[in-house]
Amino acid sequence: MDNLERIVGDALSQFSSIDDAAELEQAKARFLGKTGALTELLKALGKLPAEERREAGSSINAAKVKLESALAQRRDALAQKQLDARLAEEALDVTLPGRGAGRGRVHPITRTQDRIEAIFRSIGFEVADGPEIETDWNNFTALNNPENHPARSMQDTFYVENLDADGRPLLLRTHTSPMQVRYARMHTPPIKVIAPGRTYRVDSDATHSPMFHQVEGLWIDEDISFADLKGVYTAFLRRFFETEELEVRFRPSFFPFTEPSAEIDMAFGAGPNKGKWLEISGAGQVHPSVIRNFGLDPEKYIGFAFGSGMERLAMLRYGINDLRLFYDGDLRFLQQFA
Ligand code: FA5
Ligand code: MG
Repeated sequence: MDNLERIVGDALSQFSSIDDAAELEQAKARFLGKTGALTELLKALGKLPAEERREAGSSINAAKVKLESALAQRRDALAQKQLDARLAEEALDVTLPGRGAGRGRVHPITRTQDRIEAIFRSIGFEVADGPEIETDWNNFTALNNPENHPARSMQDTFYVENLDADGRPLLLRTHTSPMQVRYARMHTPPIKVIAPGRTYRVDSDATHSPMFHQVEGLWIDEDISFADLKGVYTAFLRRFFETEELEVRFRPSFFPFTEPSAEIDMAFGAGPNKGKWLEISGAGQVHPSVIRNFGLDPEKYIGFAFGSGMERLAMLRYGINDLRLFYDGDLRFLQQFA
């Protein structure tokens, strides 16, 4: 039985010195497992003389109970230690100041769009919205653009792989003018609407961006003239720029969908751009063929349309000379628009 005491001593000292749960289980196997030291002693009981067997058996069982309880205690101690370590590692200092979410702002182009919508609403225009992926018919054909018009070329227009119902490739609208067609075909005159939104062209420099915003305007009734266009547009500009002293010119121009047509320019202002003009809009009296494509009688209905660049309006309002600044995402620039 000296042997038993030695085994118990060994086991207790190993259990208490082990710091790792897996190692503890291996130590358990060495003493209490199927071929463990204590188990071997139990197996050997049968070979003892009958008188010794009983006492030896009860000593071994007592030793076994002792080891099992030591093992259980050590297991608990190791589990607690692991928990403590994890709690320490994941501790939060709830007294540290927060990082804060930083307050966002409305983008200057969105602000510009909001202002434009508010001004036109106040003079009786509806605000309509339409798709950025358009059919060739809405973007070009219905607007009296001949089949071979250069605007249709691959150099100017972004085409999409999918085809429309006519088997023609869909495209990213190059202007908001297809909204004239969409809206006029779904409403009856008087039609008085603006349609702001994104437009796309293969274009990029200080005053041209491949994605930009236009706002389309359309007023169709029985007696709406080019004079109304000048009146409405000038009133809009006065409100938008908050001044009566506008440097604006209506320059004769050409669009297949208007006749007569004009482009509207404004004085660019200070610095290297002093004395220069910036084109803000195309405009004109809607062409009779386009009125017919609206599903209306051109003998009866007449009116004007315009399509203005929102980045250009924002550039002039805020004195910005490169429109790419709107899309660089530089907070030093964007934070100036409070
Ligand atoms: C048009 O897009 C015509 N649909 C406008 C129109 C509507 C005429 C209704 C008559 C009746 P234009 O290509 O000129 O026209 O573009 C209109 C305005 O969009 C320009 O004056 C300019 O302010 C702006 N613009 C055009 N291309 C870009 C671009 N790449 N980046 C930023 N602004 C642009
Ligand atoms: Mg133009």
